[in-house]
Amino acid sequence: MENFPSVLESIDDLSKRQIDGVLGLAHRIKNRSDTPFHFSNKTPIIATSFLENSTRTKHSFEIAISKLGCTYIDFNSEKSSLKKGESLEQTLLTLNDQGVDLCIIRTSVSNQLAEFKEKPPIKIINGGDGVNEHPTQALLDVFTLIECGIKLDGKTFCIAGDNIHSRVGHSLIKLLPQFGVKVLLFGPNAFQPKKLPAGVEVTYNRDEVLKKADILYLLRVQTERHDDKEDNKVLDYAKDYGFTLEMIESLKNKIPVLHPGPANIGVEICHELINSKYYLGHVQVRNSIYLRMALIQAMLQNGAKNIGFNENNIFKF
Ligand code: NCD
Repeated sequence: MENFPSVLESIDDLSKRQIDGVLGLAHRIKNRSDTPFHFSNKTPIIATSFLENSTRTKHSFEIAISKLGCTYIDFNSEKSSLKKGESLEQTLLTLNDQGVDLCIIRTSVSNQLAEFKEKPPIKIINGGDGVNEHPTQALLDVFTLIECGIKLDGKTFCIAGDNIHSRVGHSLIKLLPQFGVKVLLFGPNAFQPKKLPAGVEVTYNRDEVLKKADILYLLRVQTERHDDKEDNKVLDYAKDYGFTLEMIESLKNKIPVLHPGPANIGVEICHELINSKYYLGHVQVRNSIYLRMALIQAMLQNGAKNIGFNENNIFKF
């Protein structure tokens, strides 16, 4: 897993070799088949900076950090100098000067982290940036499918819901084809991208989804990311676009149902389906810890050097 990126902003930042390496490491951590990793010189310090709400991602990273034996800092943006007008870059340089090795950032601003790739102020993992990407969620979803013994090559993976506003969907669309998976989008017309990436198809017909999909991935309607001007009022979402247990039971070959959470029960998924044996949401949450442990370990061990402020650049007084 050489040359791991200093800033993991997008699925595009990882090669397929690195992706396979992280998935393999996560599997070994889960099965305790690797000798526990020992950080040589000092205990790494890892911060999370969640500038937007989170339940699953933040706690999963926190638990992964503590299981790895690293020191954890919960960077509280509300109480920080970001509130005094300091830029995110200067804030991250400060954390780096203080010895923080890696920062996991969630932000509501799409592409905010891309600017740090050229001159990283600190090692960064994107915990979700606006409507852009959520690479660690996509990786843990693929990890979950593999761990459940679900073969991916040649399968059709339907992402159903608010695809245009979903950072998880955007990362999945980049990741899944690397495993030979065909992506099918479904949902109200207003929620589907106007330009589809190569190989990705869209349908507005739920019966077609039930006929074609081998794996069903549901998304929440992300109203907080909708533009006031957008005509996104879907009056009866559950009736036209939601999925029920009955629908899955009616299939000859039953299919797994995934959701990144938080789910709106009674909208995209009904109560009986979320409580059924076809629903893998709880498995996704459990696996998220191992995948994020592997990713943190890979970033700390193999991430590029030359990060933050360079002492050699200071004037010789
Ligand atoms: C997603 C997110 O925040 O991007 N959830 C998650 O991280 N598990 C999806 C969502 O908000 O709907």
